[in-house]
Amino acid sequence: MPAATPAVSFDPALGLAVLRTPNSVYAVRIGADGSPRHLHWGPVLDAAALTTPRSPADSSFEDEAAADELAPQSGARFGPAGLQVRFADGTVGAQWHFLGPRIDGGELRLRLADRRYPLAAELCYRVRPDSDVIERWTELTHTGDDAPVTVHRLDSASWTLPPLADYRISHLVGGWNSEFQLHRDRLPVAETTLTSRRGLTGHHAGPWLALDDGTAEEEHGQVWSTALAWSGSWRITVHRDPVGRTTWTGGFGHEGLSWRLAPGETLRTPVFAGLYSAAGFGGASRAWHAHVRTRVLPEPERDRPVLYNSWEATGFAVDEAGQRRLAKLAAGLGVELFVLDDGWFGARTSDRAGLGDWTPRAQAFPDGLRPLVDEVHRLGMDFGLWVEPEMVNSDSDLYRAHPDWVLHAPTRDATELRNQLVLDLSLPEVETWVHRTLDTLVTGNGVDWLKWDANRPFTEAARPGAPDPDRVWIDHVRAVHRIMDRLRADHPGLRIEACAGGGARVDLGVLARTDQAWTSDNTDPVDRISIQHGFSQLLPAQAMAAWVTDSPNVTTGRTTPLRFRFHVAMAGALGLGGDLTHWTAEELAEAAELVARYKEIRPLVQRGVQHRLTAGGGVTAVHYATPDGTEHAVLAWRPTTRFGHPAAPLRLPALDGRARYRDLDTGEEYDGALLRHRGIDLRLPPGDHASRLLRLRRTDRLTNSTTGS
Ligand code: DGJ
Repeated sequence: MPAATPAVSFDPALGLAVLRTPNSVYAVRIGADGSPRHLHWGPVLDAAALTTPRSPADSSFEDEAAADELAPQSGARFGPAGLQVRFADGTVGAQWHFLGPRIDGGELRLRLADRRYPLAAELCYRVRPDSDVIERWTELTHTGDDAPVTVHRLDSASWTLPPLADYRISHLVGGWNSEFQLHRDRLPVAETTLTSRRGLTGHHAGPWLALDDGTAEEEHGQVWSTALAWSGSWRITVHRDPVGRTTWTGGFGHEGLSWRLAPGETLRTPVFAGLYSAAGFGGASRAWHAHVRTRVLPEPERDRPVLYNSWEATGFAVDEAGQRRLAKLAAGLGVELFVLDDGWFGARTSDRAGLGDWTPRAQAFPDGLRPLVDEVHRLGMDFGLWVEPEMVNSDSDLYRAHPDWVLHAPTRDATELRNQLVLDLSLPEVETWVHRTLDTLVTGNGVDWLKWDANRPFTEAARPGAPDPDRVWIDHVRAVHRIMDRLRADHPGLRIEACAGGGARVDLGVLARTDQAWTSDNTDPVDRISIQHGFSQLLPAQAMAAWVTDSPNVTTGRTTPLRFRFHVAMAGALGLGGDLTHWTAEELAEAAELVARYKEIRPLVQRGVQHRLTAGGGVTAVHYATPDGTEHAVLAWRPTTRFGHPAAPLRLPALDGRARYRDLDTGEEYDGALLRHRGIDLRLPPGDHASRLLRLRRTDRLTNSTTGS
């Protein structure tokens, strides 16, 4: 038997590094100038046969050699730089000497040293045998013992595409209540910058993008996509130049920041992961979902619980008696986790005071939280608690005691947003205090779940007089990650939900230490369909918290049936957030039935393979299947009806055309080819806000089956 081709190889004669994944090849060639140059990222081929990039001498105006793997600011490079440094004598940029590769299993490091200055870099790559995702990051080291080096930009990776006639860019934009809106536009011949300057990942944009040649669709076409694992400010610049070169470079921090690299210090960037897929946007999403589930999320095999959260029901008006009432009703519906939201502590009866004072408000919880926690546990549910540990109201005991703990510049006005300031977690004493406070809350109250919120971006972040004032943009985020990691390590049963005024901090960095993310404060099911569609481009349903709330919806005023609200929320990690004390007995009974139904399909939704579908007549749907193709759940929605036209049959292309399927609710039997090619009549009722949950089971016993024909 021929030996398996190694996932990572380096040919010293050609200066060629090759990374192989099951369906793609990535190749780099060390240029004559010592800089690693991009050669190929795409379908499987023999990289050694690729022609050497043109030499710089071909053009007298600029360096037309292949794009750099991480473009340093030096020589005749005029595109966006991925590495910008300034040495003590004022010299800028790096000129590399290639020291050689280091290969360890699926990991490759291209080791570089500046030819004149004490600076070394390692361009790092990691591949795994079961995934097409390539993880990349950079490590920059000051190898001298003298003056610091100033780092103006240190990207995780630069990515380059083959020269095709055209490209489209897909990315996510939005705002509070409108996160994860998918935009797909022609990529301009220009520099396009996606960025957050907020210290948070951001509602307004996300560090994920996909490029395709303009013809990709949900189930076919070449798609190159990347995602940055960072929960603070970031920047990705895509550059399409007039001669057809398409590259992008990205990493932490936004423009205008600089960091001090001290002698002996190494700055390691977050991972910027990339994926090539020839199976369209749907295929790319499925590959990302598998990566996030197996390599990012903690405990992916553990079901995310059906939760109840009191925020929309009570706002700040929380007290023990009211929470007990809600908990009892929630338990009766089959809820597994009861989360007490904002308003339980300090002087927090509105968003104007108390943030930072993490002791239960005596008027609301005279005996502390323990009696409520015990009651929730007695009802058979876990107990979750809302915290916003990075923030403080100026009207709080914490701020009065430690006004110097917040991000501030003494000669500038302090910007308050939602009446709050940001604690500077880059200060070790603040990190220690936050960790200790949370640890005490968890230990002292039997808390099983933290909802970790962050309701404002950074302002006045560069501390005047600090030796490395912009370092807070990195160090604050690292402190947040570190505290989460420590809490999880010390409390193995503890779960954490990421939240930032809705979905303003959802990224692969925070999801590596949280179980799920609060997707948006907008719980209107019609709006949620597009929010969830955007979320699903990169992230699996398991990580997407989705609540059923009251109707009319508090954000949009829209009235929708309970079943429709459930069917939309059941496409993620289901939660309830309405004022259950106002639900009728019929509504409570229907909710209990739908929660039970969700639990039946939960393994499919949370651990299955997801396919996004559309049918004529305004129907969209999500199809979840077990990896072996035996069990299927389809959630289909038609928000509005037009002209009374019936919905077109919903085609289910992920089914096996040679198999047979039974509708588990009606008992009807279907031929797989019919469902694949002609579709199923969803029998949606007339009118707006129609929806259907369809459950199918494969009934035949084909061996060696493949999806086909
Ligand atoms: C913003 C979150 O997104 C909401 O769910 C809620 O927790 C509020 N903050 C509380 O202030």
